[in-house]
Amino acid sequence: MSRVGKVRETGGVSQLHDPALHSFASDNYSGAHAEVIQALADANGGHVGSYGADPYTARFSELVVQHFGEGSTVHPVLTGTGANVVALQALVPRWGAVICAATAHIYTDEGGAPERLGGIKLLTVPTTDGKLTPDLIDRQAYGWGDQQRPQPLAVSITQTTEMGTAYSVSEIRAITQHAHSLGMKVHLDGARIANAAATTGATLQQFTRDAGVDAVSFGGTKNGLIFGESVVVLTDDELPGVTYIRKMDAQLASKMRFVSAQFVAVLEGDLWLRSAQHSNAMAQRLRDALVELPGVEVTQPVEANAVFAILPRHVIEPVRAEHRFYDWNRSTGEVRLMCSFDTTEAHVDALAESIRREIESAP
Ligand SMILES: Cc1ncc(COP(=O)(O)O)c(C=O)c1O
Repeated sequence: MSRVGKVRETGGVSQLHDPALHSFASDNYSGAHAEVIQALADANGGHVGSYGADPYTARFSELVVQHFGEGSTVHPVLTGTGANVVALQALVPRWGAVICAATAHIYTDEGGAPERLGGIKLLTVPTTDGKLTPDLIDRQAYGWGDQQRPQPLAVSITQTTEMGTAYSVSEIRAITQHAHSLGMKVHLDGARIANAAATTGATLQQFTRDAGVDAVSFGGTKNGLIFGESVVVLTDDELPGVTYIRKMDAQLASKMRFVSAQFVAVLEGDLWLRSAQHSNAMAQRLRDALVELPGVEVTQPVEANAVFAILPRHVIEPVRAEHRFYDWNRSTGEVRLMCSFDTTEAHVDALAESIRREIESAP
């Protein structure tokens, strides 16, 4: 008989996993920060307005203005894919296309949602490190007025990128200036926006609103929330359609207080930044250990909470059995190692030691 959902007599559920188990597979494998869990309990009880008419969403809106600047508006949603689709649909008309890196999550990992749900053509550009530049954008930025070509009307960048790299404020400004000069808006997929603030030392406002970004998918899940993301609109024309699009895309949470309360928990103090600084530091520690090991090649600059490395082939499966992680490129032996807010130095050292041991036990 399955134990799933077995209810204890005292209430709650029997614990069905080993809470001591840690992995490097994804920052989505981690649980939620204890302060977020507490915030949910605090936000519970009694009745408040639904669909965002609640005091937690009002407070979240104030905090977004504090962090992103006057005039910023927030629209909480349920998933990062949802945030991206809602933001992109609000930014471009029916005939619009969006330029993005070929490694962009919107292109590789969202089941085609921007294209299928949003009806938006994506125009991709290969990059070496997940980052677009004005020159790379120009490879797809052409053909306005040509009725045969999807019209490039927005650029989407990811900060930090899917390759664990980060744009500087000036790199983002160069992109927004270029895109705006061509009549294109700029969207920033900030699933790991906190890691970007931690690594660049810039405020959220400095590399978004001040750098000319029009709309942000503001990530929470990878920063210690249970779930919950949001669309932050920065552009002066406010994108009035965003509220209707959110509902049409099935991203309007009825009990929104629980999404907003989680964001309030991390944004009110500096928990959002501390968690990101910590996961970034763990990735640095891992990188420093890996570069010392023979036959290991770290393939990307480690600027956030991800380490990409080529491991000797015989090492991968034995190490994976102890410390779960994903392949990035099976043909080269490149793997992706992700750190989370709850990754400890001991976790990192144990992984590095396991890799070292397997290298030394080469047949
Ligand atoms: C860069 C990026 N964008 C967006 C997302 C959002 O994904 P989800 O729809 O799973 O919340 C993710 C999650 O892995 C991501 O890594």
